[in-house]
Amino acid sequence: MAKPQPNIIAIDGPAASGKSTLGRRLADSLGYLFFDTGVMYRAVTLLALQRGIDIRDEAAVTALAEVTTIDVLPASKFDGRAYDVIVEGKDVTWEIRSHEVDANVSIVSAYRNVRRAMSEQQRRIGQRGRVVMVGRDIGTVVLPEADLKIYLDASAEERAHRRHDEIEARGEAANYDDVLTKVIERDRIDSTRDVAPLKVAPDAVIIDSDRMDADEVFERARKLCE
Ligand code: DC
Repeated sequence: MAKPQPNIIAIDGPAASGKSTLGRRLADSLGYLFFDTGVMYRAVTLLALQRGIDIRDEAAVTALAEVTTIDVLPASKFDGRAYDVIVEGKDVTWEIRSHEVDANVSIVSAYRNVRRAMSEQQRRIGQRGRVVMVGRDIGTVVLPEADLKIYLDASAEERAHRRHDEIEARGEAANYDDVLTKVIERDRIDSTRDVAPLKVAPDAVIIDSDRMDADEVFERARKLCE
């Protein structure tokens, strides 16, 4: 008998490695829910900034994370979004991608109890199955029971190129060296934090996408599902 398709798929990896692009395509092709967990940390960061909360004030940011309702819903608009991100009833899908959020989200996502609050919600959604969940700690902490774990990697330079092109495609100005510095800094924070640092799960399949385009990465991942 053929092996069934994996029910829970975890994709982890560093910033701008192409996890979201892969996760979205894989979920579409399988008819699964695509859940990009980074949006939850971004939403808390955005709300803290909007409310004038000091991002370094762990207690204040944690208190906010614990009472904030974050919803990820099917896309309501055809403006390139994969889903709607709703925080306290407001659509913040694009606002959570701002430079200011980018610059502060690694600090927020390193807070122990912010992670606990977010991970609990992620776990509840993931355990329903038929899901492709994308993040940094999905295969290691949030859903260690995932049926397929992919660690999507690429060099910092390659990821900075991709992020740089993405920013320019949105019509914004970007400097490659600045983008590279930020990518390296986020890697450092994400992989050296005490709680749930970015690392490869022992049973993960590593895909190094440096010399692969998005289609090749997708084909490789699709084969792993068969
Ligand atoms: O994938 P992203 O760039 O949207 O993630 C935003 C931030 O959230 C990034 O600093 C890493 C963090 N993150 C995390 O710590 N754990 C996750 N499961 C997802 C994201």
